This record gives sequence, structure tokens and C-alpha cells, in this order.
Amino acid sequence: MGKHALLKQILEEGQVGERFTARGWLRSHRGSKAVSFLVLYDGSTMKTLQAVLPTDTPGYEEVAHQLTTGASVVVEGVLVESPGKGQRVELKADKVAVLGVADADTYPLQKKGHSMEFLRSIAHLRARTNVFGAVFRVRATLAQATHRFFGDRGFHYVHTPIITASDCEGAGEMFEVKATSTKDHFFGRQAMLTVSGQLNAEALAYGLGQVYTFGPTFRAENSNTSRHLAEFWMIEPEAAFYDIHDDMDLAEAYLKALITAVFEHNADDIDFLGKFVDKQLVQTLESTRDQTFERITYTDAVDILTKAKREWEFPVSWGIDLQSEHERFLAEEHFKRPVMITAYPKEIKAFYMFNNDDDKTVAALDVLVPRIGEIIGGSQREHRLDRLESRITADGMALEDYSWYLDLNRFGAVPHAGFGLGFERAVMFCTGMTNIRDVVPFPRSVGQAAF
Ligand code: 4AD
Ligand code: MG
Repeated sequence: MGKHALLKQILEEGQVGERFTARGWLRSHRGSKAVSFLVLYDGSTMKTLQAVLPTDTPGYEEVAHQLTTGASVVVEGVLVESPGKGQRVELKADKVAVLGVADADTYPLQKKGHSMEFLRSIAHLRARTNVFGAVFRVRATLAQATHRFFGDRGFHYVHTPIITASDCEGAGEMFEVKATSTKDHFFGRQAMLTVSGQLNAEALAYGLGQVYTFGPTFRAENSNTSRHLAEFWMIEPEAAFYDIHDDMDLAEAYLKALITAVFEHNADDIDFLGKFVDKQLVQTLESTRDQTFERITYTDAVDILTKAKREWEFPVSWGIDLQSEHERFLAEEHFKRPVMITAYPKEIKAFYMFNNDDDKTVAALDVLVPRIGEIIGGSQREHRLDRLESRITADGMALEDYSWYLDLNRFGAVPHAGFGLGFERAVMFCTGMTNIRDVVPFPRSVGQAAF
């Protein structure tokens, strides 16, 4: 028996002459009369291990017809230098067993080059493809890098509720939570799935100083776009004693740290995605990592957009909410780098944002990146109780509904700020994928909750 190891370890660290037992699935199989070439993957890496098996190996005859794409196999042998290009070593095999067959007539992932639409219809099988293997490995790296980034900076990881009675963003596009067994409200009042953990994170930041959440959020947005999901993940840092400038510094450093981590841990995946998904991927990521982000106000942005020689689908004037076409123009074409926009009109932003001295704008922060548009939304928070109360009232909301949130700033208020990064949008940005449904394993969006 050889040493059991992940293919990544065999391929990167295995020594010539060492004996290994390799386990995985067949990416492909081709044979001649004398030898059979088995190409194995196991998910640990983009790379495959080639096992070369003489056809006179004892037992080969019996399993030969089962060695089809998708079958799971165990192959034993000795590692040798590979004469083939692009691989350091291969396995000179002398033993093979099939664990699970994959019938060539019915296994849907026979040939390469399936459309994303088709793969979405078999989301339970698509993790077995090269593209989705790469995307989900990058996704895992981004999650780990998030915890490292905030942990290293003294941010405490906190858990905020998924079931909530408040609508943080005031957007009203929420899912209601009900018990199937009772007609009355289970929680004694109407309860919803959270759209953001921010208000709870603010409460925790006033005790722990610097915190971040990383959890699922839900929005019943009836928009069938390539950038919106009904269930998505958000990372929300919140820091006491931060102002809008500290917030921008944190957002820029965080995005750059994510990209650095992907280059460090997913070089093969990025290489593959850059070849087959987005030819500009490496360049976009490198320039985002290496360039200073642009920082402008909403008023500057409106200025640039009105002067641009462009037919906008949504006409631009001071006071409008920026649309995807505007955001992408600014990041992709005008500045050709990420743009951080602050000082938005207060009418188009949530009640909790810090009021600027002009009394017209709030200390909001949107970070826009090429190809995606808005990837981060955040702000400095209004910590002055009287201003907060008058804004809530002005927005037609009841102060009683926000009594606990108002308490935070009734006692020991300090300037504080935070933001939310849409995790799936970050995965799209780092993989070059163009549809948000293809960066989450099992997407939930309007009309769709299969698998
Ligand atoms: O800009 P948003 O709505 O900000 C908040 O929720 C704040 N409470 C965050 C905070 O300050 N703590 O959402 C934040 C980010 C967006 O920039 C976007 O990337 C992502 O969440 N997002 C979505 N991603 C996928 N599908 C959706 N339906 C999304 N809605 C927002
Ligand atoms: Mg936003």
C-alpha cells in the first residue's frame, strides 16, 4: 500500500520513487493496446494527476469498461518524472480499482464546453467541472482571507441574528418568517429574514470596539439581474472611533487583501479562469491590487457623468440614485480602477447615515469596481441622538420601533463607521464570472430555489 494523499500534495510535494495511493474521479481516460492513461482529479487542486497503467496489470481487464469519465477510482503506483508537458510527475500504476461507475450514456458531464445555463440546471453536479471547481476554491479562499484580514486587525468576529423584526435598509423588500404550525406570529410580532446585520453589529461595536459579521442575508428584490440574489452572504465590519475616511481606508485594504490571497492560494485556478472565462482577469485583479483607489464625492460623480458623451438609459442629474450603467462607466471607463464615492444626497440613503454639515448629503460610502459596479456599501453612522431621531421621524418611521437602536447612542455615543461587502460580488470580481448565480453553489433568486 502506498501513502494516501490529496492529489495536490502528490503533485506538489511527492518525490520520484515514492509509492502513493491516489483517489479521485476520472476527468478522462484514453488507452492504447499496451497502456491506459487515467487522468484524475479530486478537488484539492485545478491540476490533474496522470496515472499510466499497463493493460496487462492484474485485474485491469475486469474494470477496463468501467473506466469512464466521472467514475471514481483508486490507483496505486510509484511516482515517476513525467515526460509530458505541464506536469512534474505522474503515477506509474500497478493497481486499479473502480469505486463508483458513471455510465457513459447517462452521466451528463461527458464532454467539455457545456453552457453555464445548462450547468445551472444541474447545479448538484456542476462542482465536478473545472470551472466550478476553480470558482468554489476561490470562494473558500476569500472566506478564509476575510477572517484573517479582520482578525489580524483586531476585529472580533460576531454573530448577528438571521431572524429579525427590523428592516435595516428601510427598503421593505424582505421575507417574512412564520411557523408552519401556528397561525399567530411565532415571535409575538411580525418577523423577517435579515437584510443586514449592521444594526446589531453597531450594538456590539459599542462593547467590543471593532467587530465584523459574515453571514447570510436575504432580500426579496424582484429583479432578475445577473448581480442580485435573494439569498447572499455579506461581510460587515463595524468600528467605533472610525470616521468615513477610516472606513474608506479599511475597504480599500480589505479588497486588496482578498486579491493578494487569491493570487497566493489559487494561482492555478486564476490561470484557468483567465484562459477560459475572462481574458482580462489577471490584469484587472493586479491593477486593483496595485493601484490606489479613486476617491470622489457623489457631486463629482454626477459632474463626470453629465459631461460624458453618453446616451444614458437612466438620465443623470443631482439627486438620482446611481444605476449600474453609471457605476460601471466610472470604474471601467473613466477611472479604469476602483472608485469610492462619498457624500450622497441624504434622500437616497438609509436613515442611519451621518449627516454632513451641508445638511444635504450624508457620509455614505459606495465602492465600485470594474465589471461589477457596486461591491461595497457602507457609511459613517449618525451617532448624534437628536439628528438620528429627527431623521427617523422625517422618514415617516416610528421612534418606538427603533428604541433599542436609539439607546446605543443615548449612552456613550462615539463616531463609528462600517460597510457591507457583497460576498458573491467579490467572488464574481475575483473569478471573472458574469452571472452571480454561478459563484454560489446553490443559488436562490426570484423563481428559483431548486437543489
Ligand atoms: O449597500 P447595501 O444594501 O448595504 C447594507 O446593507 C449596509 N447595511 C451594509 C453596512 O453598512 N453594514 O449592501 C451591501 C452590499 C452591496 O454593496 C452589494 O455588494 C451586496 O451587499 N448586495 C447584494 N448582493 C447580491 N444580491 C443582492 N440582492 C444584493 N444586495 C446587496
Ligand atoms: Mg448599496
